Amino acid sequence: MKRKQLFEFEDQSWFPGFLRNYLTDFLQFISNQFDIYKNITPLLSELVKKDGNNTIVDLASGGGGGLYRLSNRLKEEHPDLKIILTDYYPNLKAFEYVRKQSANFGYEKESVDARKVPSHLKGVRTQFLSLHHFREEDAVQILQNAVDSKSPIALFESQERNVKSVLAMLFSPINVLLMTPFIKPFSLGRIVFTYIIPLVPLFVMLDGVLSALRTYTIPEMNELISRVEGHEHFEWKTGKQKSSPVGILYLIGTPK
Ligand SMILES: C[S@@+](CC[C@H](N)C(=O)[O-])C[C@H]1O[C@@H](n2cnc3c(N)ncnc32)[C@H](O)[C@@H]1O
Repeated sequence: MKRKQLFEFEDQSWFPGFLRNYLTDFLQFISNQFDIYKNITPLLSELVKKDGNNTIVDLASGGGGGLYRLSNRLKEEHPDLKIILTDYYPNLKAFEYVRKQSANFGYEKESVDARKVPSHLKGVRTQFLSLHHFREEDAVQILQNAVDSKSPIALFESQERNVKSVLAMLFSPINVLLMTPFIKPFSLGRIVFTYIIPLVPLFVMLDGVLSALRTYTIPEMNELISRVEGHEHFEWKTGKQKSSPVGILYLIGTPK
């Protein structure tokens, strides 16, 4: 399947903010519920140790993704670890909810563009389920910005560009309908737009299928790295880590 840039509804500036938040809240819920990042803990732990800032700067955080569960695992080796949530469209309610769950989380109130991260945000940069949102030149810019500021960077995707992922996304509305009552913080709007006017299941499915169709393959990730000026000053790793129930694609770069 050839990669197509396409578009996702949640990326559009006209897309209602409250619906975008319901979509990313759902991603946060399933990522933590199924602990999908458990097997990438050693990869991230090594980066945190090497970097020495004891901080993860998460870009394109949405509703916080699976970082809550991951943070608990990472804290076993890095008890003072801090995690800063950021986004181009910050979901402050969700950020505050995650911060209340765990005091090692903080967040940026202002919009943070993954392609041009402000210099005061120092630490290991992470991105979960968002590399595919960026067209090639923007994805290269994300890596370039990390290289220019000598910041380690780790990008993870839990879907792939294949028939299995597309089929899984087509069935995702069932999960939305089953899991919505358990998503916190509770919101009457979420219930209305899931069960009465079912826009949340519809857009989770549409954006999910579109996400799968535009996910970079490992050779394409390697191609992005080769386009970064000064890439030879970083060590790069790309691959796929089994982490039941999914496989996690990763692209990791660290200063040599
Ligand atoms: C699919 S969500 C991923 C959310 C979260 N990381 C997770 O795992 O659930 C993609 C996120 O990318 C954000 N985003 C889009 N363009 C961005 C940019 N240029 N810089 C930072 N974030 C961006 C969107 O606002 C959205 O929250």
